[in-house]
Amino acid sequence: MLKGKKIILGITGSIAAYKAAFLLRLLVKEEAEVQVLITNAGKEFITPATLSALSGRPVLGTFFETGDGTWHSHVDLGTWADAMIIAPASANTLAKMTAGVCDNLLLTTYLSARCPVFIAPAMDLDMFSHPATQSNITLLEKHGCMIIEPATGVLASGLHGKGRMEEPEAIVEKIRKYYLDLETRPRLDGKRVLVTAGPTYEKIDPVRYIGNYSSGKMGFAIAERLAARGAIVDLIAGPVQLSVKNENINRINIVSARAMFEKSTELFPLCDGAIMTAAVADYAPAKISPKKIKRKSENITLKLKANPDIAAKMGEIKRDNQVLCGFALETDNEEENAIVKLKKKKFDFIVLNSLVEKGAGFMSDTNRITIIDTDNKKQVFPLKSKKDVADDVIDFFAASMLKKEHPQT
Ligand code: CTP
Repeated sequence: MLKGKKIILGITGSIAAYKAAFLLRLLVKEEAEVQVLITNAGKEFITPATLSALSGRPVLGTFFETGDGTWHSHVDLGTWADAMIIAPASANTLAKMTAGVCDNLLLTTYLSARCPVFIAPAMDLDMFSHPATQSNITLLEKHGCMIIEPATGVLASGLHGKGRMEEPEAIVEKIRKYYLDLETRPRLDGKRVLVTAGPTYEKIDPVRYIGNYSSGKMGFAIAERLAARGAIVDLIAGPVQLSVKNENINRINIVSARAMFEKSTELFPLCDGAIMTAAVADYAPAKISPKKIKRKSENITLKLKANPDIAAKMGEIKRDNQVLCGFALETDNEEENAIVKLKKKKFDFIVLNSLVEKGAGFMSDTNRITIIDTDNKKQVFPLKSKKDVADDVIDFFAASMLKKEHPQT
């Protein structure tokens, strides 16, 4: 996968710099061409001689060679590279990258790079968890960088926590997977997709609501992966503690099912399809009390009225060339119930996730799904991260779209 790829390996000041030598060796073994860039602080932890011997190229660290005045062009380096990996990336370098500071060759090259950038942070646990570092990481993801999360373990300080640079093998694996996905997963350039995500809250009185445990993680992962594959995404999100990274995601925050319904009916006709992951409250209080309801008796009766079924409405107004995907979360008779929903709401396919499955459904970072389509074809997937599940759903979505565009194939 990495054979012949031109890779810049940026090394900054961290004890994990020694691991960069192993990373470099693995990349060279994969037959990648690697150019090492190192900061002055990085040189305190590993010598350029080691890195130069392993890469078979001079290691670059300064703009000018002191001896003959040769100039190293960061622009040339930035355009030469197919990928840039900054490993280890110190807190200082992360902060400079977010601000666009370019006081060394590594940083100027980063700003000039047109290629994908992978960042493997390494630092002490408190530095890593500090809000400043965390917001820098969020910002770098927004700028399109891919963060390779550090691992948890014993740190150079002797403390135990999250901050150890990921192991070189795992870093190479992530980069390999990035290229594999890029080359094998279908793209959605120019397509516009609506995604609903998260719970809805239905107001009871000024301080209370009816809600559910949906975290929104599945829908947000789908939105991010759609955007990463070139789609423009309208993400209609209920109240969740999540942020979006890709600038091609147009996030619309709503609270109630009624508001989600209105936004969805407005935007769906402009889209090529929709993926309905939201856990919409089926009922809302028939009357919202303008004042806080006081505790007066042992029992209280709340009259509820049905909310609009957003997905069913999308199924009703769907054009022949639009793809509609629904989700079903079931506790019993899973497949039977999912097939009823598939037909009733006129979905092209439905993604079934079970609440009884360990590691699947609400709140968790993983999910286990079964996809059922209108031909009653069933595809069962193993337990995966929600990001990987998102890719599986999008593959199916893209294939359904292609089938509609070219029915004979
Ligand atoms: N859905 C929706 N609007 C609603 C209810 C559900 O858009 N008012 C969508 C969900 O986003 C999901 C699909 O319909 O894609 C199925 O949702 P689910 O809650 O499993 O089904 P319901 O139709 O609400 O049926 P029930 O709660 O009785 O299982």
